Amino acid sequence: MASIRRRYRVVILGLALAAASCSKAPGDVQPLDVHLVMANALDPQADRFWAVGNAAFNEAGWMDQRRISPQEWARAEAAAHDMVETLNTLAQAPHLAVGAPASTGPDDLTPQQAKRVQALIQQDRPGFKALALGVAAFAREGELAAQNRNLRLFEQVSDELDGKCEQCHTRFWIPALSGN
Ligand code: HEC
Repeated sequence: MASIRRRYRVVILGLALAAASCSKAPGDVQPLDVHLVMANALDPQADRFWAVGNAAFNEAGWMDQRRISPQEWARAEAAAHDMVETLNTLAQAPHLAVGAPASTGPDDLTPQQAKRVQALIQQDRPGFKALALGVAAFAREGELAAQNRNLRLFEQVSDELDGKCEQCHTRFWIPALSGN
């Protein structure tokens, strides 16, 4: 388990560095790219967390503790831990940028939309930070639930996490999507 955690930490660090190396102004504190953080870190981390609970549903539609092996609990714990670190990094970053992706998938932003997201964030940095910290605290509950094999709490966090993500999305992302 410790080695799983260590590996994911390296990934996050690599990501922050990759984001930093993209920017041009030398000597400045480099912005953290919100798009890269979402697409390459937070979303896959959440998926890893959800995968454990999803695989544990029985025919009756309940999460069955017997379907979660010690390795699966460790996987959920590590995934939640990584979410906490990613969200804290997002909350503490001195500068944020929203980069438009090079390739355009269904969820991807156009360059104009990316600018609009960035403007929404600039207009309310304290609000953005508070939401990131709030979701970090919730992910920490998920980490503790997995660590203590507390099925009820684990199920609750699995159920409600998406809604927490959406609180930030409906404020800083969705409003920027109208138009090109
Ligand atoms: C503090 C604000 C905030 C929180 C919390 C947050 N997001 Fe995001 N997310 C954004 C913003 C802003 C965007 C739009 C910019 C972009 O494309 O990444 C976004 C975009 C995304 C995208 C689209 C990326 C793409 O490929 O275009 C995904 C997927 C995503 N978030 C997943 C999540 C998940 C899962 C969580 C919860 C575990 C979460 N987000 C929590 C701010 C947040």
